[in-house]
Amino acid sequence: KERLGILCSGRGSNLASIIEAVERGDIPAEIAIVIADKADAYALERAREKGIPAVPVIYRDYAERADFERALLKELQAHGVTLVVLAGFMRILSPIFVHAYTGRILNIHPALLPSFPGAHAHRDALAYGVKVSGCTVHFVDEGMDSGPIIMQAAVPVLEGDTEETLAARVLEQEHRIFPASIKLYVEGRLRTDGRKVQILHVAEGGSL
Ligand code: GAR
Repeated sequence: KERLGILCSGRGSNLASIIEAVERGDIPAEIAIVIADKADAYALERAREKGIPAVPVIYRDYAERADFERALLKELQAHGVTLVVLAGFMRILSPIFVHAYTGRILNIHPALLPSFPGAHAHRDALAYGVKVSGCTVHFVDEGMDSGPIIMQAAVPVLEGDTEETLAARVLEQEHRIFPASIKLYVEGRLRTDGRKVQILHVAEGGSL
């Protein structure tokens, strides 16, 4: 069984949607640990309420980014994590981290990549004036929000939208496609050549 290590920075609503999918039996995996880079991240509370190990690993406790990432890796490895899930984790991971889990890190980004990567996707989308936005689940590679795309969902940008109203509309879709993507990964149904992702379909009778 895959063991998920979920990294968060704040509220953890995506985390909650993944926990629910695991509890329902939709995602046949175990959540081994939840880590937040802030001690007061609500995500940690959500995990603890469900009896999931939850630990803060605080960026400023470490002299260098490499030390912070080594601390993250140590926690993940101590809990036997096989798949790293970035659920609202607001830090860029260096190649040191990415190489330790090559092809085994998933991220959700609140825009239709490759448009609007980075930390201010909704602000950037509104400033550009796009009429459609959405969210993207992708494999993490060494670039910023640049890895192979697994799933996307689109939503309209409406007249009078603010960052908050657009974010809320996109978030509903995040809560749908992130658990669905994790499910496909855990079921061994994602193949990638490092650029494109192919989803393998289950034949009637259950085998691939
Ligand atoms: C989500 O909208 C997620 O897509 C975004 O942060 C939010 C976290 O919400 N992530 C990024 O912007 C990554 N650059 P949550 O804590 O309620 O899941």
